[in-house]
Amino acid sequence: MTAEEVKIKNLTINDSLEEEDVVTPWSVESTVDTGIDYDKLIKRFGSSKIDEELLQRFEKLTGKKPHHFLRRGIFFSHRDMHTILNLYEQGKPFYLYTGRGPSSESMHLGHLIPFMFCKWLQDVFNVPLIVQLTDDEKSIWKNIKIEDAITLAYKNAKDIIACGFESRNTFVFSNLEHIGSNPAFYQNMIRIQKCVTYNQVKGIFGFGDSDPIAKISFPPTQAAPALSSTFPFIFKDIKAHCLIPCAIDQDPYFRMTRDVAPRIGHPKPALMHSTFFPALQGSKTKMSASDDNTAIFLTDTAKQIKNKINKHAFSGGQATVEEHRKIGGNCDIDISYQWLRFFLEDDERLEELRKGYTSGEILTGELKKELIDVLQKVVATHQENRSKVTDGTLQEYMRPRDLGFISKK
Ligand code: TYM
Repeated sequence: MTAEEVKIKNLTINDSLEEEDVVTPWSVESTVDTGIDYDKLIKRFGSSKIDEELLQRFEKLTGKKPHHFLRRGIFFSHRDMHTILNLYEQGKPFYLYTGRGPSSESMHLGHLIPFMFCKWLQDVFNVPLIVQLTDDEKSIWKNIKIEDAITLAYKNAKDIIACGFESRNTFVFSNLEHIGSNPAFYQNMIRIQKCVTYNQVKGIFGFGDSDPIAKISFPPTQAAPALSSTFPFIFKDIKAHCLIPCAIDQDPYFRMTRDVAPRIGHPKPALMHSTFFPALQGSKTKMSASDDNTAIFLTDTAKQIKNKINKHAFSGGQATVEEHRKIGGNCDIDISYQWLRFFLEDDERLEELRKGYTSGEILTGELKKELIDVLQKVVATHQENRSKVTDGTLQEYMRPRDLGFISKK
């Protein structure tokens, strides 16, 4: 193998025809009801497991009990988290970067996961958060008109701000609007583009010869915000470390970024990866914004939430009440239980439900009712918070500005 071929092999995600799970930024599929085998994925992607030792160090340094996403293995994999904790230990700041590809007017519950987690990380570490809205990506992949993609970005930005981020340390931007007015951004995109060959992007992202070049040249646009010099109005000339929380589907972008960053004088970004919030129909796929019945949207009414869950939530229960009482339900495949793992914060109650459902004492309908109550509250609170985000608020978050990072150096 030539050096180039070895490198492509190391970065590639499409080398595994014998593997059954498909995990790319555009598709997540498993053939079994329990969903993706995340341990296998860690090995395939070459990341590290978020283990007990890391969680203990986290708690010891921050004095905060790890978030239930960490305690329950929902954020399960990382790259270089120890480096981030070392920085924190030394009192050195870093920043958070995450994003959203605005393909629909409303985000769904799955999209909330990284933002809820970022909000918690931001509170624990008191660091800036940068949120990229890849309206360009959605315009390219979904063939949405540029103007419409920007409108969707603004609508999604309101949902993101409603997660509770404060404007003093949060910068949200639309690629289609911001990049043209920020030369440092474009310059970093070109620096990254110069480092990645066509063979590499084909290997990493599976692009074909007939794909528009817009797709082929897009990945550096998602990579650039992981380099602090992309935002001189926030970081001046500081080469700050970056931590990216996201679901593991986005990892290919950041494997590429981590390969390039040191070659252009930047630290490799660290990552925390989450599992996927599954579709209503089961864990074989993730929740999708393009299929209304797989997802609960942040705009859904209490009634829609109730109906969707009652009608579509895949059950791990038995065919009859008698059988269920005798054999019990299977929490590993039951969507109501799986969703409660994400949204029911109370560990004791979750454990009660797990035991009760597994033993057959609790029926599917009862589990669904518990989930409906939890989600109706989550969505109603979100809707209330979102209604307070005005166009003026949005402008404040989306204005390039100093976020007080320098003074913390
Ligand atoms: P997008 O819009 O597909 O997803 C936004 C974020 O939500 C995560 N996600 C999920 N997490 C849990 N369960 C799910 N079912 C689920 N579906 C999506 C995604 O991993 C992502 O973190 N190209 C990106 C936008 C982007 C970005 C970034 C994401 C730009 N820069 C930096 C993360 C980090 C996209 O289209 O995400």
